[in-house]
Amino acid sequence: MKYYITTPIYYINDIPHIGHAYTTVAADVLARYHRKKGDEVFFLTGTDEHGAKIAEAAAKAGKEPQQFADELVPKFQDAWKNLNISYDEFFRTTNPEHEKLVQQFVSTLKEKGFVEKRKYEGLYCVSCEQFYKENELEDDKCPVHKREVTKHSEENYFFLLSKFGDKLLKKIKSGELEIGPETRKNEVVGKINSELEDVSISRAGVKWGIPFPGDPEQTIYVWVDALLNYYTASIIYSDKTLTPPLTPPRRGGGPEWPANLHLMAKDILWFHAIIWPAMLMAAELPIPKKVFAHGFFTINGAKMSKTLGNVIDPNDVVAKFGADAVRYALLREFPFGEDGDISVEKIASHYNSLANNIGNLLQRTISMIKRYNVTVISTEAEKSLIDNSVQDLSTLDRPRSRDDKIVKIDQELDQLDFMGALKKIDDIAIASNKDIADKQPWVLAKENKMEELSKVLIEAHSNLGVIAELLEPFMPETAEKMKKQLESLEPEPLFPRLEE
Ligand code: MSP
Repeated sequence: MKYYITTPIYYINDIPHIGHAYTTVAADVLARYHRKKGDEVFFLTGTDEHGAKIAEAAAKAGKEPQQFADELVPKFQDAWKNLNISYDEFFRTTNPEHEKLVQQFVSTLKEKGFVEKRKYEGLYCVSCEQFYKENELEDDKCPVHKREVTKHSEENYFFLLSKFGDKLLKKIKSGELEIGPETRKNEVVGKINSELEDVSISRAGVKWGIPFPGDPEQTIYVWVDALLNYYTASIIYSDKTLTPPLTPPRRGGGPEWPANLHLMAKDILWFHAIIWPAMLMAAELPIPKKVFAHGFFTINGAKMSKTLGNVIDPNDVVAKFGADAVRYALLREFPFGEDGDISVEKIASHYNSLANNIGNLLQRTISMIKRYNVTVISTEAEKSLIDNSVQDLSTLDRPRSRDDKIVKIDQELDQLDFMGALKKIDDIAIASNKDIADKQPWVLAKENKMEELSKVLIEAHSNLGVIAELLEPFMPETAEKMKKQLESLEPEPLFPRLEE
Protein backbone atom coordinates (compact mmCIF):
# COMPACT_ATOMS: atom_id res chain seq x y z
CA MET A 1 0.00 0.00 0.00
CA LYS A 2 1.10 3.55 -0.69
CA TYR A 3 1.11 5.79 2.33
CA TYR A 4 1.58 9.52 1.80
CA ILE A 5 1.85 11.54 5.00
CA THR A 6 2.57 15.22 5.54
CA THR A 7 3.32 17.76 8.25
CA PRO A 8 2.43 21.40 7.72
CA ILE A 9 5.12 23.34 5.94
CA TYR A 10 6.36 25.66 8.65
CA TYR A 11 6.66 29.42 8.25
CA ILE A 12 10.27 30.30 7.76
CA ASN A 13 10.19 33.50 9.83
CA ASP A 14 12.10 32.05 12.75
CA ILE A 15 13.98 28.96 13.90
CA PRO A 16 11.97 25.79 14.63
CA HIS A 17 10.58 25.33 18.14
CA ILE A 18 9.30 22.39 20.11
CA GLY A 19 5.76 22.91 18.73
CA HIS A 20 6.98 22.26 15.20
CA ALA A 21 8.94 19.30 16.51
CA TYR A 22 5.81 17.84 18.06
CA THR A 23 3.92 17.45 14.77
CA THR A 24 7.04 16.37 12.93
CA VAL A 25 7.91 13.65 15.46
CA ALA A 26 4.34 12.32 15.42
CA ALA A 27 4.41 12.14 11.61
CA ASP A 28 7.79 10.42 11.73
CA VAL A 29 6.51 7.74 14.08
CA LEU A 30 3.66 7.01 11.68
CA ALA A 31 5.98 7.03 8.67
CA ARG A 32 8.32 4.55 10.37
CA TYR A 33 5.43 2.39 11.53
CA HIS A 34 4.02 2.17 8.01
CA ARG A 35 7.43 1.45 6.49
CA LYS A 36 7.82 -1.36 9.01
CA LYS A 37 4.48 -2.75 7.90
CA GLY A 38 5.80 -2.78 4.35
CA ASP A 39 3.88 0.20 3.01
CA GLU A 40 5.47 2.42 0.39
CA VAL A 41 5.70 5.50 2.51
CA PHE A 42 6.29 9.03 1.36
CA PHE A 43 6.77 11.47 4.20
CA LEU A 44 6.79 15.16 3.32
CA THR A 45 7.71 18.17 5.41
CA GLY A 46 9.12 21.57 4.51
CA THR A 47 8.89 25.31 4.78
CA ASP A 48 6.35 27.97 3.85
CA GLU A 49 8.37 30.83 2.45
CA HIS A 50 6.10 33.44 0.85
CA GLY A 51 3.83 36.14 2.19
CA ALA A 52 3.82 39.29 4.27
CA LYS A 53 4.95 37.57 7.45
CA ILE A 54 8.19 36.30 5.92
CA ALA A 55 8.79 39.57 4.07
CA GLU A 56 8.36 41.42 7.36
CA ALA A 57 10.78 39.13 9.22
CA ALA A 58 13.33 39.38 6.41
CA ALA A 59 13.11 43.18 6.36
CA LYS A 60 13.66 43.25 10.11
CA ALA A 61 16.78 41.17 9.61
CA GLY A 62 17.88 43.50 6.82
CA LYS A 63 17.76 40.73 4.24
CA GLU A 64 16.04 39.88 1.01
CA PRO A 65 13.27 37.34 1.68
CA GLN A 66 14.84 34.66 -0.50
CA GLN A 67 18.22 34.97 1.17
CA PHE A 68 16.54 35.10 4.56
CA ALA A 69 14.67 31.87 3.82
CA ASP A 70 17.75 30.19 2.36
CA GLU A 71 19.60 30.85 5.59
CA LEU A 72 16.84 29.51 7.81
CA VAL A 73 16.07 26.31 5.90
CA PRO A 74 19.17 24.51 7.24
CA LYS A 75 18.00 25.30 10.79
CA PHE A 76 14.89 23.24 10.16
CA GLN A 77 16.77 20.50 8.37
CA ASP A 78 19.35 20.27 11.16
CA ALA A 79 16.70 20.16 13.85
CA TRP A 80 14.93 17.32 12.03
CA LYS A 81 18.21 15.50 11.55
CA ASN A 82 18.95 15.79 15.25
CA LEU A 83 15.52 14.39 16.03
CA ASN A 84 16.03 11.53 13.60
CA ILE A 85 13.18 12.56 11.32
CA SER A 86 13.05 10.27 8.32
CA TYR A 87 11.31 12.58 5.85
CA ASP A 88 11.57 11.68 2.19
CA GLU A 89 11.58 15.23 0.87
CA PHE A 90 11.91 18.69 2.31
CA PHE A 91 9.56 20.96 0.41
CA ARG A 92 10.19 24.65 -0.15
CA THR A 93 7.44 26.81 -1.63
CA THR A 94 10.07 28.92 -3.43
CA ASN A 95 10.77 25.88 -5.62
CA PRO A 96 10.19 27.28 -9.17
CA GLU A 97 8.38 24.11 -10.23
CA HIS A 98 5.94 24.55 -7.39
CA GLU A 99 5.42 28.22 -8.31
CA LYS A 100 4.51 27.25 -11.85
CA LEU A 101 2.12 24.52 -10.74
CA VAL A 102 0.42 26.86 -8.26
CA GLN A 103 -0.22 29.37 -11.05
CA GLN A 104 -1.62 26.61 -13.22
CA PHE A 105 -3.90 25.51 -10.44
CA VAL A 106 -5.24 29.01 -9.86
CA SER A 107 -5.80 29.37 -13.60
CA THR A 108 -7.82 26.17 -13.50
CA LEU A 109 -9.98 27.55 -10.70
CA LYS A 110 -10.56 30.67 -12.81
CA GLU A 111 -11.43 28.65 -15.91
CA LYS A 112 -13.90 26.58 -13.97
CA GLY A 113 -15.64 29.73 -12.82
CA PHE A 114 -14.78 29.58 -9.14
CA VAL A 115 -12.86 32.86 -8.96
CA GLU A 116 -14.31 36.38 -8.86
CA LYS A 117 -12.73 39.80 -8.48
CA ARG A 118 -14.31 41.86 -5.69
CA LYS A 119 -13.62 44.83 -3.54
CA TYR A 120 -12.70 43.72 -0.11
CA GLU A 121 -12.50 45.52 3.17
CA GLY A 122 -11.29 43.82 6.26
CA LEU A 123 -9.07 43.80 9.29
CA TYR A 124 -5.85 41.98 8.60
CA CYS A 125 -3.43 40.24 10.97
CA VAL A 126 -0.05 39.83 9.33
CA SER A 127 1.00 37.08 11.76
CA CYS A 128 -2.01 34.97 10.82
CA GLU A 129 -1.99 36.13 7.21
CA GLN A 130 -5.73 36.28 7.65
CA PHE A 131 -8.65 38.72 7.65
CA TYR A 132 -10.83 39.05 10.70
CA LYS A 133 -14.29 40.42 11.26
CA GLU A 134 -14.89 43.09 13.90
CA ASN A 135 -16.67 40.66 16.21
CA GLU A 136 -13.86 38.13 16.01
CA LEU A 137 -11.34 40.52 17.58
CA GLU A 138 -10.45 40.61 21.24
CA ASP A 139 -9.81 44.14 22.58
CA ASP A 140 -9.60 45.23 18.95
CA LYS A 141 -6.65 42.89 18.49
CA CYS A 142 -6.05 39.61 16.69
CA PRO A 143 -7.42 36.85 18.95
CA VAL A 144 -4.44 34.58 18.25
CA HIS A 145 -1.47 36.94 18.30
CA LYS A 146 -2.96 39.81 20.32
CA ARG A 147 -1.40 42.17 17.81
CA GLU A 148 -2.97 45.20 16.14
CA VAL A 149 -4.85 44.38 12.99
CA THR A 150 -4.69 46.77 10.08
CA LYS A 151 -7.60 47.95 8.00
CA HIS A 152 -7.15 46.75 4.48
CA SER A 153 -9.24 47.69 1.55
CA GLU A 154 -8.31 46.23 -1.76
CA GLU A 155 -9.56 44.55 -4.85
CA ASN A 156 -8.97 40.84 -4.49
CA TYR A 157 -9.72 37.65 -6.28
CA PHE A 158 -12.12 35.46 -4.36
CA PHE A 159 -12.50 31.73 -4.37
CA LEU A 160 -16.19 30.84 -4.19
CA LEU A 161 -15.90 28.67 -1.13
CA SER A 162 -19.58 29.22 -0.29
CA LYS A 163 -20.53 26.94 -3.18
CA PHE A 164 -18.89 23.95 -1.47
CA GLY A 165 -20.64 23.69 1.88
CA ASP A 166 -23.01 20.87 0.97
CA LYS A 167 -20.41 18.96 -0.99
CA LEU A 168 -18.00 19.14 1.93
CA LEU A 169 -20.62 17.98 4.38
CA LYS A 170 -21.42 15.02 2.18
CA LYS A 171 -17.78 13.99 1.98
CA ILE A 172 -17.35 14.34 5.72
CA LYS A 173 -20.53 12.42 6.50
CA SER A 174 -19.68 9.61 4.10
CA GLY A 175 -16.20 9.32 5.58
CA GLU A 176 -14.58 10.10 2.26
CA LEU A 177 -12.97 12.99 4.09
CA GLU A 178 -12.01 11.84 7.56
CA ILE A 179 -11.44 14.54 10.14
CA GLY A 180 -10.04 13.78 13.54
CA PRO A 181 -10.35 13.87 16.44
CA GLU A 182 -14.13 13.59 16.60
CA THR A 183 -14.60 16.79 18.63
CA ARG A 184 -12.73 18.82 16.05
CA LYS A 185 -14.72 17.20 13.28
CA ASN A 186 -17.90 18.37 14.96
CA GLU A 187 -16.50 21.89 15.18
CA VAL A 188 -15.73 21.84 11.49
CA VAL A 189 -19.19 20.58 10.61
CA GLY A 190 -20.73 23.26 12.81
CA LYS A 191 -18.71 25.93 11.11
CA ILE A 192 -19.68 24.74 7.64
CA ASN A 193 -23.32 24.83 8.64
CA SER A 194 -23.15 28.34 9.99
CA GLU A 195 -20.70 30.37 7.96
CA LEU A 196 -19.08 29.37 4.73
CA GLU A 197 -18.05 32.61 3.06
CA ASP A 198 -16.01 33.10 -0.06
CA VAL A 199 -12.33 33.65 0.64
CA SER A 200 -9.87 36.06 -0.85
CA ILE A 201 -7.05 34.22 -2.62
CA SER A 202 -4.90 37.13 -3.75
CA ARG A 203 -3.12 40.08 -2.19
CA ALA A 204 -2.53 43.44 -3.86
CA GLY A 205 -0.10 44.74 -1.26
CA VAL A 206 2.10 41.71 -0.82
CA LYS A 207 5.00 41.63 -3.24
CA TRP A 208 6.72 38.50 -1.85
CA GLY A 209 4.52 35.86 -3.40
CA ILE A 210 3.68 34.01 -6.59
CA PRO A 211 2.25 36.40 -9.23
CA PHE A 212 -1.48 35.95 -9.75
CA PRO A 213 -2.13 34.59 -13.25
CA GLY A 214 -3.37 37.35 -15.52
CA ASP A 215 -2.90 40.15 -13.00
CA PRO A 216 0.65 41.32 -12.32
CA GLU A 217 -0.61 43.68 -9.60
CA GLN A 218 -1.56 40.80 -7.31
CA THR A 219 0.14 37.81 -5.75
CA ILE A 220 -1.45 34.51 -4.80
CA TYR A 221 -2.48 34.37 -1.14
CA VAL A 222 0.20 32.52 0.80
CA TRP A 223 -2.23 29.92 2.19
CA VAL A 224 -3.29 28.84 -1.31
CA ASP A 225 0.36 28.56 -2.29
CA ALA A 226 1.17 26.66 0.91
CA LEU A 227 -1.68 24.14 0.88
CA LEU A 228 -0.88 23.28 -2.69
CA ASN A 229 2.55 21.98 -1.64
CA TYR A 230 0.96 18.66 -0.73
CA TYR A 231 -0.36 18.24 -4.23
CA THR A 232 2.47 19.77 -6.26
CA ALA A 233 4.93 17.53 -4.40
CA SER A 234 3.14 14.54 -5.87
CA ILE A 235 3.97 15.87 -9.32
CA ILE A 236 7.43 17.28 -8.62
CA TYR A 237 8.70 14.22 -6.74
CA SER A 238 7.01 11.60 -8.82
CA ASP A 239 9.41 9.48 -10.81
CA LYS A 240 6.81 9.24 -13.53
CA THR A 241 6.87 12.89 -14.51
CA LEU A 242 10.54 13.76 -14.40
CA THR A 243 13.17 12.10 -16.49
CA PRO A 244 16.18 10.32 -15.08
CA PRO A 245 18.99 10.98 -14.41
CA LEU A 246 17.63 14.31 -13.20
CA THR A 247 15.44 12.68 -10.59
CA PRO A 248 17.01 10.67 -7.85
CA PRO A 249 14.99 7.53 -7.25
CA ARG A 250 12.26 8.17 -4.70
CA ARG A 251 11.15 5.72 -2.13
CA GLY A 252 8.09 3.97 -3.46
CA GLY A 253 8.23 5.88 -6.73
CA GLY A 254 7.33 9.16 -5.07
CA PRO A 255 4.20 10.41 -3.39
CA GLU A 256 0.89 9.62 -4.96
CA TRP A 257 -2.01 12.02 -4.66
CA PRO A 258 -4.27 12.00 -2.65
CA ALA A 259 -2.42 12.09 0.66
CA ASN A 260 -3.41 9.53 3.26
CA LEU A 261 -2.92 11.89 6.16
CA HIS A 262 -2.31 15.58 6.78
CA LEU A 263 -1.14 16.15 10.36
CA MET A 264 -1.20 19.55 12.03
CA ALA A 265 -2.33 21.38 15.15
CA LYS A 266 -5.82 22.70 15.66
CA ASP A 267 -4.80 26.26 14.73
CA ILE A 268 -4.80 25.46 11.06
CA LEU A 269 -7.45 22.76 10.83
CA TRP A 270 -9.89 25.15 9.15
CA PHE A 271 -7.55 25.62 6.20
CA HIS A 272 -6.92 21.89 5.86
CA ALA A 273 -10.39 20.54 6.46
CA ILE A 274 -12.43 23.14 4.58
CA ILE A 275 -10.55 25.43 2.23
CA TRP A 276 -8.13 22.80 0.97
CA PRO A 277 -10.63 20.07 0.04
CA ALA A 278 -12.94 22.69 -1.49
CA MET A 279 -10.12 24.02 -3.66
CA LEU A 280 -9.36 20.49 -4.80
CA MET A 281 -12.99 19.72 -5.55
CA ALA A 282 -13.22 22.91 -7.57
CA ALA A 283 -10.29 21.73 -9.65
CA GLU A 284 -11.82 18.25 -9.85
CA LEU A 285 -8.94 16.62 -8.03
CA PRO A 286 -9.16 13.95 -5.33
CA ILE A 287 -9.29 15.20 -1.75
CA PRO A 288 -7.03 14.02 1.08
CA LYS A 289 -8.22 10.93 2.91
CA LYS A 290 -7.66 12.14 6.42
CA VAL A 291 -6.91 15.37 8.21
CA PHE A 292 -5.98 15.16 11.88
CA ALA A 293 -5.45 18.09 14.23
CA HIS A 294 -3.58 17.56 17.47
CA GLY A 295 -3.72 19.95 20.40
CA PHE A 296 -1.59 22.89 21.35
CA PHE A 297 0.81 22.81 24.18
CA THR A 298 1.88 25.30 26.71
CA ILE A 299 5.26 25.44 28.43
CA ASN A 300 4.97 25.11 32.18
CA GLY A 301 1.40 26.30 31.92
CA ALA A 302 2.20 29.40 29.87
CA LYS A 303 1.73 30.05 26.20
CA MET A 304 5.02 29.54 24.40
CA SER A 305 6.33 32.92 23.33
CA LYS A 306 9.55 34.72 22.56
CA THR A 307 8.56 37.60 24.80
CA LEU A 308 8.05 35.26 27.74
CA GLY A 309 11.38 33.66 26.88
CA ASN A 310 10.02 30.14 27.40
CA VAL A 311 10.44 28.82 23.86
CA ILE A 312 12.06 25.38 23.87
CA ASP A 313 14.58 24.84 21.09
CA PRO A 314 14.37 21.16 20.10
CA ASN A 315 18.14 21.08 19.57
CA ASP A 316 18.77 22.02 23.20
CA VAL A 317 16.66 19.22 24.61
CA VAL A 318 18.05 16.71 22.13
CA ALA A 319 21.56 17.69 23.23
CA LYS A 320 20.56 17.08 26.85
CA PHE A 321 18.40 13.97 26.61
CA GLY A 322 19.03 12.50 23.18
CA ALA A 323 16.57 12.36 20.30
CA ASP A 324 14.75 9.26 21.47
CA ALA A 325 13.91 10.48 24.95
CA VAL A 326 12.58 13.74 23.51
CA ARG A 327 10.49 11.87 20.95
CA TYR A 328 9.17 9.67 23.72
CA ALA A 329 8.46 12.53 26.14
CA LEU A 330 6.53 14.58 23.58
CA LEU A 331 4.18 11.73 22.74
CA ARG A 332 3.97 10.17 26.20
CA GLU A 333 3.12 13.30 28.16
CA PHE A 334 -0.51 13.83 27.10
CA PRO A 335 -2.96 12.32 24.61
CA PHE A 336 -2.49 13.26 20.98
CA GLY A 337 -5.43 15.40 19.97
CA GLU A 338 -5.77 17.12 23.33
CA ASP A 339 -4.06 20.23 24.62
CA GLY A 340 -1.26 19.65 27.07
CA ASP A 341 1.77 21.02 28.80
CA ILE A 342 5.46 20.30 28.38
CA SER A 343 8.65 21.57 30.00
CA VAL A 344 12.31 20.66 30.20
CA GLU A 345 11.62 19.23 33.67
CA LYS A 346 8.89 17.00 32.28
CA ILE A 347 11.21 15.73 29.56
CA ALA A 348 13.85 15.02 32.22
CA SER A 349 11.36 13.08 34.25
CA HIS A 350 10.40 10.95 31.25
CA TYR A 351 14.08 10.32 30.66
CA ASN A 352 14.41 9.06 34.20
CA SER A 353 11.41 6.78 33.91
CA LEU A 354 12.85 5.31 30.74
CA ALA A 355 16.11 4.69 32.58
CA ASN A 356 14.36 3.16 35.57
CA ASN A 357 12.02 0.96 33.61
CA ILE A 358 13.21 -0.19 30.18
CA GLY A 359 16.85 0.78 30.75
CA ASN A 360 16.97 -1.02 34.07
CA LEU A 361 15.27 -4.13 32.71
CA LEU A 362 17.78 -4.43 29.90
CA GLN A 363 20.79 -3.83 32.12
CA ARG A 364 19.83 -6.24 34.87
CA THR A 365 18.59 -8.95 32.51
CA ILE A 366 21.74 -9.02 30.44
CA SER A 367 24.02 -8.79 33.47
CA MET A 368 22.29 -11.73 35.15
CA ILE A 369 22.19 -13.79 31.96
CA LYS A 370 25.96 -13.40 31.83
CA ARG A 371 26.55 -13.84 35.53
CA TYR A 372 24.51 -17.04 35.75
CA ASN A 373 25.56 -18.27 32.35
CA VAL A 374 22.03 -18.65 31.01
CA THR A 375 21.61 -19.73 27.42
CA VAL A 376 19.23 -17.48 25.56
CA ILE A 377 18.17 -17.94 22.02
CA SER A 378 19.19 -15.08 19.77
CA THR A 379 16.41 -12.63 19.18
CA GLU A 380 16.29 -13.42 15.47
CA ALA A 381 16.00 -17.15 16.02
CA GLU A 382 13.50 -16.51 18.74
CA LYS A 383 11.44 -14.31 16.49
CA SER A 384 11.23 -16.95 13.82
CA LEU A 385 10.18 -19.45 16.44
CA ILE A 386 7.44 -17.15 17.62
CA ASP A 387 6.32 -16.53 14.07
CA ASN A 388 6.42 -20.17 13.06
CA SER A 389 4.40 -22.04 15.55
CA VAL A 390 2.98 -22.09 19.01
CA GLN A 391 4.05 -25.68 19.27
CA ASP A 392 7.71 -24.86 18.88
CA LEU A 393 7.50 -22.22 21.49
CA SER A 394 5.90 -24.52 23.99
CA THR A 395 8.90 -26.80 23.74
CA LEU A 396 10.88 -23.97 25.25
CA ASP A 397 8.81 -24.44 28.34
CA ARG A 398 7.91 -20.80 28.58
CA PRO A 399 6.32 -19.52 31.73
CA ARG A 400 3.75 -17.72 29.61
CA SER A 401 1.91 -18.70 26.48
CA ARG A 402 2.68 -17.16 23.16
CA ASP A 403 -0.60 -15.28 22.87
CA ASP A 404 0.01 -13.73 26.20
CA LYS A 405 3.27 -12.33 25.09
CA ILE A 406 2.41 -10.82 21.73
CA VAL A 407 1.48 -7.23 22.42
CA LYS A 408 0.11 -5.30 19.51
CA ILE A 409 0.00 -1.54 19.20
CA ASP A 410 -1.38 -1.42 15.66
CA GLN A 411 -4.77 -0.30 16.77
CA GLU A 412 -3.34 2.52 18.88
CA LEU A 413 -1.12 3.68 16.04
CA ASP A 414 -3.89 3.48 13.47
CA GLN A 415 -5.93 5.72 15.76
CA LEU A 416 -2.97 8.03 16.42
CA ASP A 417 -3.08 7.14 20.09
CA PHE A 418 0.67 7.44 20.61
CA MET A 419 0.37 7.75 24.36
CA GLY A 420 -1.70 4.57 24.57
CA ALA A 421 0.85 2.68 22.48
CA LEU A 422 3.76 3.87 24.62
CA LYS A 423 1.91 3.01 27.81
CA LYS A 424 1.42 -0.53 26.56
CA ILE A 425 5.13 -0.83 25.82
CA ASP A 426 6.04 0.59 29.22
CA ASP A 427 3.70 -1.89 30.83
CA ILE A 428 5.58 -4.84 29.36
CA ALA A 429 8.74 -3.60 31.02
CA ILE A 430 6.96 -2.84 34.30
CA ALA A 431 5.52 -6.36 34.41
CA SER A 432 8.83 -7.90 33.48
CA ASN A 433 10.72 -5.92 36.12
CA LYS A 434 8.14 -7.01 38.64
CA ASP A 435 8.50 -10.62 37.58
CA ILE A 436 12.24 -10.42 38.25
CA ALA A 437 11.69 -8.71 41.60
CA ASP A 438 9.14 -11.38 42.58
CA LYS A 439 11.13 -14.40 41.51
CA GLN A 440 14.51 -13.08 42.65
CA PRO A 441 16.92 -14.86 40.33
CA TRP A 442 19.78 -14.08 42.77
CA VAL A 443 17.99 -16.15 45.42
CA LEU A 444 17.26 -18.91 42.91
CA ALA A 445 20.98 -18.95 42.10
CA LYS A 446 21.91 -19.36 45.74
CA GLU A 447 19.41 -22.20 46.04
CA ASN A 448 20.86 -23.65 42.89
CA LYS A 449 17.47 -23.69 41.13
CA MET A 450 19.07 -23.14 37.76
CA GLU A 451 16.15 -24.18 35.62
CA GLU A 452 13.76 -21.78 37.28
CA LEU A 453 16.35 -19.06 37.13
CA SER A 454 16.80 -19.60 33.39
CA LYS A 455 13.07 -19.36 32.82
CA VAL A 456 12.84 -15.96 34.46
CA LEU A 457 15.73 -14.53 32.50
CA ILE A 458 14.77 -16.05 29.17
CA GLU A 459 11.36 -14.58 29.68
CA ALA A 460 12.78 -11.12 30.42
CA HIS A 461 15.13 -11.39 27.45
CA SER A 462 12.25 -12.28 25.20
CA ASN A 463 10.11 -9.43 26.55
CA LEU A 464 12.93 -7.03 25.82
CA GLY A 465 12.97 -8.27 22.23
CA VAL A 466 9.28 -7.47 21.97
CA ILE A 467 9.80 -4.05 23.54
CA ALA A 468 12.59 -3.21 21.10
CA GLU A 469 10.42 -4.25 18.18
CA LEU A 470 7.45 -2.15 19.30
CA LEU A 471 9.57 0.85 20.26
CA GLU A 472 11.26 1.05 16.89
CA PRO A 473 9.03 3.68 15.25
CA PHE A 474 9.15 5.84 18.39
CA MET A 475 12.76 5.40 19.46
CA PRO A 476 14.71 4.03 16.52
CA GLU A 477 18.18 4.40 18.05
CA THR A 478 17.18 2.86 21.36
CA ALA A 479 15.49 -0.08 19.63
CA GLU A 480 18.64 -0.68 17.63
CA LYS A 481 20.86 -0.54 20.72
CA MET A 482 18.54 -2.90 22.56
CA LYS A 483 18.59 -5.44 19.77
CA LYS A 484 22.37 -5.31 19.60
CA GLN A 485 22.73 -5.81 23.32
CA LEU A 486 20.23 -8.65 23.38
CA GLU A 487 22.34 -10.37 20.73
CA SER A 488 25.81 -9.62 22.02
CA LEU A 489 24.92 -9.74 25.73
CA GLU A 490 27.24 -6.78 26.29
CA PRO A 491 25.27 -4.48 28.57
CA GLU A 492 25.62 -0.72 28.25
CA PRO A 493 23.28 1.82 29.86
CA LEU A 494 20.56 2.92 27.43
CA PHE A 495 19.88 6.08 29.38
CA PRO A 496 22.98 7.02 31.35
CA ARG A 497 22.51 9.07 34.50
CA LEU A 498 21.99 12.74 33.68
CA GLU A 499 24.51 15.29 34.80
CA GLU A 500 22.79 18.06 36.67
N1 MSP B 1 2.79 27.79 7.25
C1 MSP B 1 1.60 27.40 7.92
C2 MSP B 1 1.20 25.99 7.56
C3 MSP B 1 0.94 25.76 6.11
S1 MSP B 1 0.56 24.11 5.78
C4 MSP B 1 -0.01 24.10 4.24
C5 MSP B 1 1.81 27.46 9.42
N2 MSP B 1 3.06 27.39 9.85
S2 MSP B 1 3.53 27.46 11.39
O1 MSP B 1 4.97 27.55 11.35
O2 MSP B 1 2.85 28.46 12.10
O3 MSP B 1 3.22 26.06 11.97
C6 MSP B 1 1.98 25.74 12.54
C7 MSP B 1 2.07 24.33 13.04
O4 MSP B 1 3.18 24.18 13.95
C8 MSP B 1 0.90 23.86 13.85
O5 MSP B 1 -0.19 23.44 13.08
C9 MSP B 1 1.53 22.72 14.58
O6 MSP B 1 1.71 21.66 13.69
C10 MSP B 1 2.86 23.28 14.98
N3 MSP B 1 2.81 24.05 16.23
C11 MSP B 1 3.22 25.31 16.41
N4 MSP B 1 3.09 25.65 17.72
C12 MSP B 1 2.60 24.64 18.42
C13 MSP B 1 2.26 24.42 19.78
N5 MSP B 1 2.44 25.33 20.71
N6 MSP B 1 1.72 23.22 20.10
C14 MSP B 1 1.51 22.25 19.17
N7 MSP B 1 1.83 22.43 17.90
C15 MSP B 1 2.38 23.60 17.48
O7 MSP B 1 0.85 27.54 10.15
